[in-house]
Amino acid sequence: MYKPVTVVGSYNLDQSLKCKALPHEGETVIAQSYSESSGGKGSNQAVAASKMGAKTRFIGRIGADHNGQDALAMYDRLDIDRSRMVIDECARTGLSVIMVDENGRNQITVVPGANYNLSKADIDASLDVLCDSGIVGFQLENQPEVVAYGLKKVSGLGVKTLLDPAPAFALPQDLYQYINCIKPNEHEAKALTGIPVSDFESACKAGKWFLDRGVQVAIITLGSEGSVLVTKNGGKFFNTPKVNAVDTTGAGDCFSGALMASIAQDKSIEESILLASHAAALSVTKFGVIDSIPTLAEVEAFIKTQEH
Ligand code: RIB
Repeated sequence: MYKPVTVVGSYNLDQSLKCKALPHEGETVIAQSYSESSGGKGSNQAVAASKMGAKTRFIGRIGADHNGQDALAMYDRLDIDRSRMVIDECARTGLSVIMVDENGRNQITVVPGANYNLSKADIDASLDVLCDSGIVGFQLENQPEVVAYGLKKVSGLGVKTLLDPAPAFALPQDLYQYINCIKPNEHEAKALTGIPVSDFESACKAGKWFLDRGVQVAIITLGSEGSVLVTKNGGKFFNTPKVNAVDTTGAGDCFSGALMASIAQDKSIEESILLASHAAALSVTKFGVIDSIPTLAEVEAFIKTQEH
């Protein structure tokens, strides 16, 4: 029996606007549609891990409001353990305004709300379940010092950690030793390392930068151009399957969630990246975030079609 994936992170209500083109500065554009759904990088990753068949729990803060209630109902529907979530009486549930253009590109603005009240005490209150996890994932939509505290605590428990450093900002250099696996995209890798990343060579350089600071596994995703695994054995390139992109929002979350599910089931890192890149590729073929995350059966069937 495998241990659960635990995700510590953010929940947002996503307000998504589909537009022909994203507005330029000072410009007003007319949207073609508007929809609301559950989002937040942490929560999306928990949903992806669960859809990949991992026993999953999510730890985060939501407000004592309607949006928070919707979040709890969503976790129950997807069989995600939310027993350690905190309902914040002083802040509203996080909110994201997402604009997606006809090429599937997006712009996202996040109002953190209760996510920024997630505290070190919340982490301490869940040490028993963090300890009983196959891997614990973090992102950067909570206060950085709380994320840092969580990474140190979980690593101290001897449990694997994954950081999806989104949205990216510089991290203390001494934090990297507590991260087993880091999964930035090319933009985040540049923001963290200062190394412009656009191809295999530059991704390897950025990956080595992380390894030199104590990370064991760096996976730099390059969107539709593939992803690069960097370990002490060197760099390895993985293709992204070619698909028709409708909405890329949350593709990185889908990748991280699927990756964690696979790692928690003791699969090799190569096998886990294969699953994650196919899951993420499938997710961009549909509009929205959690509804576009495929099931394990769908991903396995998709992988088979790519083998021929
Ligand atoms: O990565 C996509 C997510 O970013 C959205 O669900 C939105 O809530 C923001 O957190």
